[in-house]
Amino acid sequence: MRIRIDNGRVLDPSTKRDGNYHILIEGNRVAKITAEDKDDADRVIDADGCYVMPGLIDLHVHFREPGFEYKETIATGARAAARGGFTAVCPMANTKPVIDSPEMVSFLLEKAAKESPVRILPIGSVTKGLEGREVTDMAGMKAAGAVAFSEDGKTVMDAAVYRKGLQQAAEIGAVVMDHCEDMNLLKESVMREGTLAEARRVSSVSHASEDLITARDILLAKETGAHLHLCHCSTKASIQMAEMAKREGLALTVEVCPHHFTLTYDDIPEGDTNFKMAPPLREAEDVAALKAALKSGVADVISTDHAPHSAEEKTRPFPEAPNGIVGAETAVALTISELVEPGILSPLEMAEKMSFNPAKILGLSLGVLAEGKVADITIIDPKAEYVIDKNTFASKGRNTPFHGRKVRGKVLYTIVDGKIVYAAEEEQ
Ligand code: DOR
Ligand code: ZN
Ligand code: ZN
Repeated sequence: MRIRIDNGRVLDPSTKRDGNYHILIEGNRVAKITAEDKDDADRVIDADGCYVMPGLIDLHVHFREPGFEYKETIATGARAAARGGFTAVCPMANTKPVIDSPEMVSFLLEKAAKESPVRILPIGSVTKGLEGREVTDMAGMKAAGAVAFSEDGKTVMDAAVYRKGLQQAAEIGAVVMDHCEDMNLLKESVMREGTLAEARRVSSVSHASEDLITARDILLAKETGAHLHLCHCSTKASIQMAEMAKREGLALTVEVCPHHFTLTYDDIPEGDTNFKMAPPLREAEDVAALKAALKSGVADVISTDHAPHSAEEKTRPFPEAPNGIVGAETAVALTISELVEPGILSPLEMAEKMSFNPAKILGLSLGVLAEGKVADITIIDPKAEYVIDKNTFASKGRNTPFHGRKVRGKVLYTIVDGKIVYAAEEEQ
């Protein structure tokens, strides 16, 4: 099978290539990138006016299988990812049972091989059962195919246990993805006095609940030499601490989610649980800090924290509804609308944050769009304007705060290993 992608704006952060080219895919490889001749092909994609990027990689998703298949399965989550332009995703370990053993990692990979059109790169938990007491067999899980480790959804509140986890990760050269939230402060459901949270009777959590753990874990990473990846950074203070740590030369990377750079606290309609996630929406100065960090490079990655929940769960009153929103199918549009169009990121930098850097963090030979490399490719029409409609999602989750939002940027094709796994034209 030969696929030709004609005349797209080819964006490859690894070589800083940014220009109009034709791409020829042969089998599962990029055979040629050329400005001149066009080879024969079985299928031709006209990418005029489109971004052609290395396949997007989402370092942070929740696919809920096993245990919570009513929210999402590997199959539905993977289809949502493909529709969102992602060619590889990292499902977090907070399933039931937890992904905390080599057997569970193998289970996930076997299922993925049968059911997923995109690459599934499992993340193992840091402690057994996410209970925060006993560190898992990370080496065993790594050997079984886990690409990183995370307690996401929770924080290991016992610093001694977490230190042990970071030590182990450092020994095997694995990244730890850090969910920063002080679980004790959370229990208090601290409200920022005098803010809309009070007025609207929605529960909220203080900035300190994130910042305390960010500080703690940067210190632990410094002592252990572990590569710490800060998940869903949402506060100005966390960004400032990350910047300091990076300046000191720590192996620290920073992730930001589209909802945190798009919305503030003020955007929450009274009681709308589709705006409830952890960490929560913050304030304008935090959003400004996140955008500045993305521009300066302090923030390395844009991930979704795709967290589907059922309609029933999300119709509970705000304090009882679960945290999380779906993100796989809106990330590209929000990144283009909020960051690329306003000139905060160039298209090449978008490819860097959504593909090249995620691959580099995991030490994978993905995220590169060059001759001879694996043909994982995302084709995006950056000018396509439309209104986000949750009813079109491939995800089982409909819990998005972006339903009805006008955006620009549409994924037209997702290609994994030389195969088209999503084509927007086939949806109409
Ligand atoms: O909003 C969130 N949802 N944050 C998390 O850390 C966990 C996630 C989930 O699993 O639903
Ligand atoms: Zn988290
Ligand atoms: Zn998460």
